[in-house]
Amino acid sequence: MEKTAIEDRVFNPSEEVVSNANISQAVYDEAAADRLAWWGKQADELVTFFKPYEKVLDDSNPPFFRWFTGGTTNVSYNCLDRHYNSAKRNKAALCYESEIGRKVILTYRELYIEVNKFANVLKGLGVQKGDRVCLYMPMIPECAIAMLGCTRIGAIHSIVFGGFSADSLADRINDAEAKIVITADGNFRKGNPFPLKNNADVALESTSCVEKVIIVKNAGNDINVVEGRDVWYHDLMATADKYCKPEEMEADAPLFILYTSGSTGKPKGVQHTTAGYLVQTQATLKYVFDLKEDDTFWCTADIGWITGHSYVVYAPLALGMTTFMYDGTVDYPDKDRMWDMAERWGISVFYTAPTAIRTFMKWGNEYPRKHDLSNIRLLGTVGEPINPEAWMWYYENIGGSKCPIMDTWWQTETGGFMITPTPMVPLKPGTATIPFPGIEVDVVDENKQSTERGYLVVKSPWPGMLMTIWGDDDRYIDQYWKRFGDYYFAGDGAKRDDMGYIWVTGRVDDVLNVSGHRLGTAEIESALVECAEVAESAVIGRKHDVKGEAPVAFVILKDGFEASPELIDKLKKHVGVKIGPIARPDDIIFTGGLPKTRSGKIMRRLLRDIAEGRAIGDVTTLADPGAMAEIATKYSGKEE
Ligand code: WT7
Repeated sequence: MEKTAIEDRVFNPSEEVVSNANISQAVYDEAAADRLAWWGKQADELVTFFKPYEKVLDDSNPPFFRWFTGGTTNVSYNCLDRHYNSAKRNKAALCYESEIGRKVILTYRELYIEVNKFANVLKGLGVQKGDRVCLYMPMIPECAIAMLGCTRIGAIHSIVFGGFSADSLADRINDAEAKIVITADGNFRKGNPFPLKNNADVALESTSCVEKVIIVKNAGNDINVVEGRDVWYHDLMATADKYCKPEEMEADAPLFILYTSGSTGKPKGVQHTTAGYLVQTQATLKYVFDLKEDDTFWCTADIGWITGHSYVVYAPLALGMTTFMYDGTVDYPDKDRMWDMAERWGISVFYTAPTAIRTFMKWGNEYPRKHDLSNIRLLGTVGEPINPEAWMWYYENIGGSKCPIMDTWWQTETGGFMITPTPMVPLKPGTATIPFPGIEVDVVDENKQSTERGYLVVKSPWPGMLMTIWGDDDRYIDQYWKRFGDYYFAGDGAKRDDMGYIWVTGRVDDVLNVSGHRLGTAEIESALVECAEVAESAVIGRKHDVKGEAPVAFVILKDGFEASPELIDKLKKHVGVKIGPIARPDDIIFTGGLPKTRSGKIMRRLLRDIAEGRAIGDVTTLADPGAMAEIATKYSGKEE
């Protein structure tokens, strides 16, 4: 195991942090003694059930686990009604700032009314319990309102990140058979309106299930309004009733679908449930980020990702906290934008991604130094392994060398944190440390035996877990439960150190992590082979200073086509249009052959070696070793 001096450092929490923390050793001990009883206790404390559950976990039909069976509840009720009926009614629930400086603060009472009205709007458009509603929206308050409005009537939302292309949006609308699409005219990016509605219009040309499109007026850019199909949000809200009775939902009723990349070309619709999700997201936020009544929590993730679902909207609101959201770029009008807002809004707990931290680090510490960040008491990171240098920079420059950093390992599929420190855990830069109470993980070898370095698995079901893949139970089983039987396989590699801490080393499947976003190599490859010039392609992730990994594509051209800078541009652009700008390859390398095993599997490890300029690895299992030399020569020519 490689170790640097930094990785060996242990940062013990201060006595003050430990004594004020929501967590204590007793919590860990209680969960270890009887984890199901402990999860039951969390549910009793954190969720208001309409009908009490009968069983904490029904594991009679693995891997289709059901949590809190027999119980009924409603997510919007838990996020709103119970605060509306308490002293919190006039507390800020959601604070928002747009890139151009528009500010909105919605109290619990105000948010409650907006959500009730919007739930009635959806009902008025014929949306029923179980129907799918697709959100393609900026990070605006209406996005949270729409999510909560869906949950109020038991409709299943599917949020598609605004950075995804029209094609990606169309695929997701069709897979979920969404009846309604909610979008906005546009939003601001570096001062210019980004035409979200135009993209949605293109997507809607290749869908037939959508009956209505609801448009929020946000950026004020001109849009096309399709008569009979498109309706303005504000027009609908103007006449909506102020109360909508929350639907009584079964504990394991689907709450939302969120698409994520897998190892095939088709994204998976990860399906989450109601009560278990509410329990795990709240328990983790309470114990890991240690939220208190007077905190203002800023999770910088876009709502289009699971982090935004769980920790911008659902968990903070269910706990009755104040959540902050920003819609815009991090360097507009200048590189201190984030710290300017952190100071102005008095942010006390700040959660972001390593790729953002590396960007801030590159810009230099003069930007955070311009601002008083002394309100910040706790930091967090998620999305990929954080390199110790970035951890240290974050610790010193944003946390003033006094704030613990919660490095949280989890996935779209897990719903909430799985491996993470809490404020009482001694920290080492670069590791997510230990499992959250009630979570059982291990590092195993091919034969499912515990080992020091191997595959990361979850050994027993957890409340926030996905229920299945939308419309594809077989894929759910295949993807997560085939390789290690009754252990959930996360797709990550990991090692364990002498303190028992788990170091996640990254994906071991054909999935890239670009700026904390998951992309399947197969998705990018199938976009490339759609181009008339391309016969075959292989995509790998190359290490990148800021993005963590950047896609690089090896491409074999069809006979009669020539490599050229124009073609490189065209192919890159096509991937951007097909999937979204984050998927655009940094490099396209033309080659006459691809290294494959005798069984025909592309040897991505070798391609990575070439792309990262390392000596070429073992080629003894190659079907055509010559292919490799050819690629290597081409690429080294390119580097010069
Ligand atoms: C994959 C999940 C969970 C929200 C963001 C991404 C990687 C995530 C960490 C971390 C090391 C991490 C893993 C995981 N990952 N957090 N703290 N340390 N790796 O969600 O798109 O579902 O991606 O992100 O590889 O499998 P996602």
